[in-house]
Amino acid sequence: MSCDKTFKCSVADKRLRIVMGYKIGDLIASGKTKLVYALDTPSLVLLRFKDDVTALDGRRRDTIAGKGALNAAISAKLFQVLREGGVENHFVEMLDESSMVVERLSMLPLEVVCRNVATGSIVKRLPIQEGVVFDPPIVEFFLKDDARGDPMLSEAHIVALKLASRGEVDEMIRAILKANEVLKDFLSKRGLTLIDFKLEFGRKEGKLMVGDELDPDCMRIRDSETGRILDKDLYRKGASLEEVKSAYEEVYRRIVER
Ligand code: ATP
Ligand code: TYD
Repeated sequence: MSCDKTFKCSVADKRLRIVMGYKIGDLIASGKTKLVYALDTPSLVLLRFKDDVTALDGRRRDTIAGKGALNAAISAKLFQVLREGGVENHFVEMLDESSMVVERLSMLPLEVVCRNVATGSIVKRLPIQEGVVFDPPIVEFFLKDDARGDPMLSEAHIVALKLASRGEVDEMIRAILKANEVLKDFLSKRGLTLIDFKLEFGRKEGKLMVGDELDPDCMRIRDSETGRILDKDLYRKGASLEEVKSAYEEVYRRIVER
């Protein structure tokens, strides 16, 4: 069988479910852009990045062949950059080009956003002009709840809803601000400007760490020289799927291949 022992192949062929020494178990969760599989080591799970691209809380959806692999590789690289910069996260290793082994976390239903420059939802919600620079950066929390349109939460809401303790909220703010510094520095050396990004956190044995993904689906990145958009804003703004893929490939070239 010529399948390069890839995870894709292992899923297609039930007889071949051991990849790189990991035994792949049941599908635990299927989100809009990723699948989560159990592994024989209960403290780990497998995240498989799909080729799907979505907007408007999943109401718009398309497929871009190769996008899952690009996002998996970009996320893996940026998680390693964060770890080297002192921001603990779930990344363990790549299993194939679009699948990564990560620490199994109990995820908080929160999207934690850090903004360096005003754009997106903040300029719709508040009387702030597009392009205004935030110094210091702004941190915001949103509830992961598509049916409610992911409403914004204050620290008091998070504590009242028992989503996290006050101490954990402070810890997430400190971690995302640190991540912002590490990422801004790393990206600027590659001619990229970090406008904003989103992290998700989970608990492992009571300790918080960054989980999920870190790629152009959940961050806004611009070419520092030309201002070219290199992230999911292209899809949000109605660019062709080829243009979206070409932007993700450019990010891949600058931060993974380099
Ligand atoms: P979105 O995050 O785009 O709103 P979604 O909630 O539909 O999408 P996906 O990102 O497609 O989810 O799927 C990933 C799922 O995996 C999410 O439910 C996420 O919370 C979960 N997840 C991410 N990292 C981990 C981890 N380390 N351990 C357990 N679950 C994780
Ligand atoms: P934001 O401007 O709040 O939302 P929108 O993308 O709808 O304009 O997004 C800020 C950044 O955080 C942007 O890089 C996208 C990312 N983000 C997500 O990836 N998922 C989310 O659910 C939210 C709220 C933000």
